[in-house]
Amino acid sequence: MRSRESTKMWGGRFEGKLSPEAEAFSHSLQHDIRLWKHELQASIAHTRMMGITGMLSTHEANRIIDALLEIHAEIEEGAWRPREDYEDIHTAIEARLYEKLGALAGKLHTGRSRNDLVATEVRMWLRERTTDLARAMLGLCAQLMHLAERHKETLMPGLTHQQHAQPVTLGHHLMAHCWAFIRDLSRLAHAGDRMNLCPLGAGALSGTTFPIDRELLAAELGFAMPVPNSMDAVSDRDFIAEYLFVGALAMTHLSRLAQELILWSTPEYGYVELSDEHTTGSSIMPQKKNPDIAELIRGRSALAVGNLTSMLALLKGLPLTYNRDLQDDKPLLFATMDTVLSSVRLMTDMLAQAQWRTERMRAALQGDFSTATELADYLVRQGVPFREAHQIVGGIVRECLQRGVGLEALDLETLQRHHPRFEADALEVIDPEHAVRARTILGGTAPESVMRQIEQAKEWLAAIENQLNELLNPS
Ligand code: ARG
Repeated sequence: MRSRESTKMWGGRFEGKLSPEAEAFSHSLQHDIRLWKHELQASIAHTRMMGITGMLSTHEANRIIDALLEIHAEIEEGAWRPREDYEDIHTAIEARLYEKLGALAGKLHTGRSRNDLVATEVRMWLRERTTDLARAMLGLCAQLMHLAERHKETLMPGLTHQQHAQPVTLGHHLMAHCWAFIRDLSRLAHAGDRMNLCPLGAGALSGTTFPIDRELLAAELGFAMPVPNSMDAVSDRDFIAEYLFVGALAMTHLSRLAQELILWSTPEYGYVELSDEHTTGSSIMPQKKNPDIAELIRGRSALAVGNLTSMLALLKGLPLTYNRDLQDDKPLLFATMDTVLSSVRLMTDMLAQAQWRTERMRAALQGDFSTATELADYLVRQGVPFREAHQIVGGIVRECLQRGVGLEALDLETLQRHHPRFEADALEVIDPEHAVRARTILGGTAPESVMRQIEQAKEWLAAIENQLNELLNPS
C-alpha cells in the first residue's frame, strides 16, 4: 500500500528515488493541472462503470464518487490545490482521494493507466476548447460579414504584388479574409471527428483483463466510440498534431489580416484608425499610436507554427506505444490553443472598433491607373483582340505618365488618337465605381455579388455549426 507521504503512484520496486533535478525535469503538474476537471470526470465515469460491472460494490463506488465530487468542490472553491511536489494531476488527485478514503482510494486505478487516462483527458479538454474556439471564430466571421455588408460599396484599390491592380470594395476584401476563417472553422470541425474517440480501457497499452465496458465509458464521457486499438489508443497524438495545424493555419490567417491592419494604419495608407483599446503609446515619442495588438497577433503566429513543427518532431522518432516524450504534447497544445482563442477574440474586437477612413481608400484610386483593364476590355467589346487592346492601353498609360496625369484626365480625342474605336462611353469605364459595379459575376466585387457571397457564407457557416453541434452535443 502506498504511504501517505509518497507523492508517486509507483515506487514499490525502487530502493532509491529520483534525483531532485530529474524530479523537477519530469514533472508535468504545472501543465496538466488544467486537466483536473477532466481527471475527476473520467474517474467518476470509470468508478460508475466499475460499480455497474461489479468490479466495485455499489457502496464502494458511491463512496469513491462522493469523494471525487468533494474534491471537485474543494478545487472549485479554492479550499484545496494539488501540491506542487506531485508528479502530475493524476497522482495529485489520487493522493487527495487517499486522504479522504484511505485504502479504498487505491481501487480507483483498477484496470486503467495514466497512459489511457491522459490521452482521454486531453481529448476531453480539446472538445471543450473547440466549443470556445468555434464560438469565437463564428464571432469573427460574423464581424467580417457585418463590415462587408456595411462596406459593400466602399471603393479601394485591389492589389497584386502590392501594386494597385483593379478597384475592389472593402466589403469584398474583408470577405476574402472571412472565407479563410470559414475554412479554419471547417477544419476545426473535421479535426473533431478524429479527436472524439475514447482511449479508456486501453490500460497501459494492451487492454485489461478486468470487465471494463469501453462502450459505456465512451458514451458516458460524450465520445463517439472507443479507440479500436489499445496500443494506438495510448500512443496516438495525431489529433494533437491536427489541432496544432488548424491553430497554426488560423494564426497564419490572422497574421495576414493583422499585417494589413498594421499597414493600413500607417500615415502612408491611412485607411484605418485602430481604437485606443488595441493600440499603445511610446515611452519617448508623445505622438505615437502603435498597433501593438495586431503586431503581437502577427508575432504569436510564429509560436503556433513552431509548436506544430515541435509536435511533429516530437512524434516522428517514437516507437509504439506510450513514451514519456508524449507528456510534452500538452504545453504545445495549450499554448497554441490559448493563443488562437485570444487572437481571434482580439481581432474581432479590433475590427469592430476600428474607424474606417473610406475617403482615404477612395482617394488612393485617384490617378492610380487601376481601371486600365477596363479600357482594354472596352476595346475588346468593340471587336479589338485583347492582346492588341492591351498594347494600345499600355501606350495610353505611358502617355499619361509622361504628362503626369491619371486616366481620369483623359478626353475622348486623346483616346481616339490611340484607337478610332473609342467612343464617348469609353470615358465612363475609367470610373472605378463603374469597374466595380460591372463585376457582378459570381464571386466578383460588385455590391450585389458581395451580398450574394455573404449569403453563401452564412449557409456554409450554418452547415459547419451543425457539424460542430453533433460533435459537441452528442444525443
Ligand atoms: N504525465 C504523463 C503524461 O502527461 C502521464 C502519463 C505518465 N505515464 C507514465 N508511464 N509515466 O504523459
